[in-house]
Amino acid sequence: MPAIHLQTEIPGPRSRAVFAERQQHVAPGPFHTTPIVAAHAEGSVITDVDGNRFLDLTSGIGVTNLGHRDPAVMEAVARQAEQFVHTSINVVAYEGYVQLAKRLNALLPEAGPCKTFLANSGAEAVENAVKFARAATGRQAVVAFEHGYHGRTYMAMALTAKAHPYKSGFAPFPAEVYRAAYPDFYRWPGVTGDPGACPSAAESGCPLSRCLCQEAFAAFAEMARAQIGETNVAAVIIEPVAGEGGFIPAPAPFLKLLREWCDKHGVVLIFDEVQTGFGRTGSLLACQQLGVTPDLVVMAKGLANGLPLSAVTGRAAVIDAVGLGGVGGTYCGNPLACAAALAVLDRFEDPAVLAHARHLGEQLRQRLDGFAQQFPQIGQARGLGPMRALELVSDRQAKTPDKAAAQSVVRYAYEHGVIVMACGTHGNVLRFLIPLTMAEEELEEGLAVIEAALASLAKA
Ligand SMILES: Cc1ncc(COP(=O)(O)O)c(C=O)c1O
Repeated sequence: MPAIHLQTEIPGPRSRAVFAERQQHVAPGPFHTTPIVAAHAEGSVITDVDGNRFLDLTSGIGVTNLGHRDPAVMEAVARQAEQFVHTSINVVAYEGYVQLAKRLNALLPEAGPCKTFLANSGAEAVENAVKFARAATGRQAVVAFEHGYHGRTYMAMALTAKAHPYKSGFAPFPAEVYRAAYPDFYRWPGVTGDPGACPSAAESGCPLSRCLCQEAFAAFAEMARAQIGETNVAAVIIEPVAGEGGFIPAPAPFLKLLREWCDKHGVVLIFDEVQTGFGRTGSLLACQQLGVTPDLVVMAKGLANGLPLSAVTGRAAVIDAVGLGGVGGTYCGNPLACAAALAVLDRFEDPAVLAHARHLGEQLRQRLDGFAQQFPQIGQARGLGPMRALELVSDRQAKTPDKAAAQSVVRYAYEHGVIVMACGTHGNVLRFLIPLTMAEEELEEGLAVIEAALASLAKA
């Protein structure tokens, strides 16, 4: 039986009615990818208030990685709700928080002894990671990257690269934030066409006449030396795959060079794995497959599969630098969210879960690479494991970003039963944040709609 089932026009009458109320009562700021209103969600499928069934290829922006309402997670949450829902870790402690910290610490064995701080959202964890780094180093400057996205609070906004719509009109931002070029080799100076994935990632040496990882690192190091001075840098924060910025993987050789530079200059290396974490790239954390260990890793989204929870995990020496009362928050590490996260970690202990995620990633890669051959509107198909995307351009040679095309695919898709999102500094990247538990047939059903959407662009 197909997962998609549409029984009204899209959006249906009840969705339209709720949207009319939303417009009247809700702040207009939060964007909406679709005009659909959810009634129920299970696995890879969202059913709307009009009884239409959609395949969800967004996982609520990379959150429900184990699918909607994963039974083990739901059971853990229900069990915790029977006990207590909130005491605040700042008042009366509970085991779930401590057990979760212990298990997250074990994710970074190369970092030596680790400790964990829990918060609620990705942005909040990013803020706190910077606090830990500044406290540990006694320095102020933080280096972030072009295409970087770290959230909506003030420090997170300052670290985020894209002005519209994230930052415009909200200045002034916190000081001592500097920006380096991200290793985006599709749009790297002097690179024509699609350079493909970093060839040196295969450990076979870089066959390009110029090593772009070396160039990107040299640009970073020179910026830090000239504009900041290495001894003033507290932290470097980077997403192993730039998420909102366009699903651009940072090649392992570049990250290794960054790691060496941070070691040399006593700088805290922070990986923002809010979007790349919890199986999204085919390993639990992306850093595990890239072979580079940060000092601090920031996690959220898939950590609790839908409950609000985030974490900063890393070297105890860095985390211990903040004394009693220096970080915290009423809801930080909520018991329901901790129970969910422990269940998520249990689920990932079964090697079949990540094996399936990688299998789906390969299925997705093959289909998206095929689309790139088929449709001239695709400038590049890229990603890491199942975290994959298509960059749409109106001119392949000039690589002119085509935001309208991405929007048109998103619209065609939801009108035909598939929920998919765009991203990218230019808004022209179609990203796939598939449920990592979906069936092969479901993914194929969804991709057939995407193929039709791309074909409709070709006709337009
Ligand atoms: C890499 C990254 N960091 C931080 C954030 C912010 O997380 P939140 O929206 O939970 O504040 C996001 C959200 O998309 C993200 O992708």
